[in-house]
Amino acid sequence: KTVYYYDVLDSTNNKARELPENSLVIAEEQIMGKGRLGRKWFSKKGGLYFSIALKPEMNLEDIPKLTLTSGVAVARALEEYQARLKWPNDVLINGKKVCGILSEIVGEIENFKVIVGIGINVENAVPDYATNLKNLNSEVNRAEILKDVIEQFTKYYKMLLSREWNKIRFEWLELSDTIGKFVEVKAGNRTYRGKAIDMDYDGGLIVETEEGTEKVFSGDCFYI
Ligand code: BTN
Repeated sequence: KTVYYYDVLDSTNNKARELPENSLVIAEEQIMGKGRLGRKWFSKKGGLYFSIALKPEMNLEDIPKLTLTSGVAVARALEEYQARLKWPNDVLINGKKVCGILSEIVGEIENFKVIVGIGINVENAVPDYATNLKNLNSEVNRAEILKDVIEQFTKYYKMLLSREWNKIRFEWLELSDTIGKFVEVKAGNRTYRGKAIDMDYDGGLIVETEEGTEKVFSGDCFYI
């Protein structure tokens, strides 16, 4: 509902923690941009860095679905670039990462908020394994991208809250870059290797390994 705009922040996810439900926080630059699994997210000027503070009427164990849903929303907003989804929630264009999503749960178990943080490479310089939108479209406009993402996010978030997760799940599968590929997923101290065959109703990745069919809920996923 309210948009908070900053030139510089440590992390838009951190700022969003203090703000009311449905706030949108944007920063031109982040000093301590956070990535998944404790990594740093490089956040130089020219990228799109924002977070949404939500108070979803959902069970805690369903929050991974919200992150997957956010991925679908971003991929839809970037449809003209043929964006695809890499489990759990990277957005790729031409096989390279263009967007990362970090959801954080804050507050008590009975009364929690979820911060969904989205970083999109637009005009910022990126390493070789990543790409930015400017490489693909010299006319790219950050305000327009943000508007499209928020529009899609609003649509899919409503769907999720109205128990249409399975519909979203099928869209995720349709946009998936991961299903059918051979993957190695590191989850805690376990490593799963095999063919990714499905993302199931719980949001877990189903991997056909030599030991049998395994379900992985989160982790670091590599293609092999
Ligand atoms: C990842 O792929 O590791 C997730 C990256 C998430 C980056 C975004 S940028 C806006 C928001 N604020 C942060 O500190 N992180 C997220």
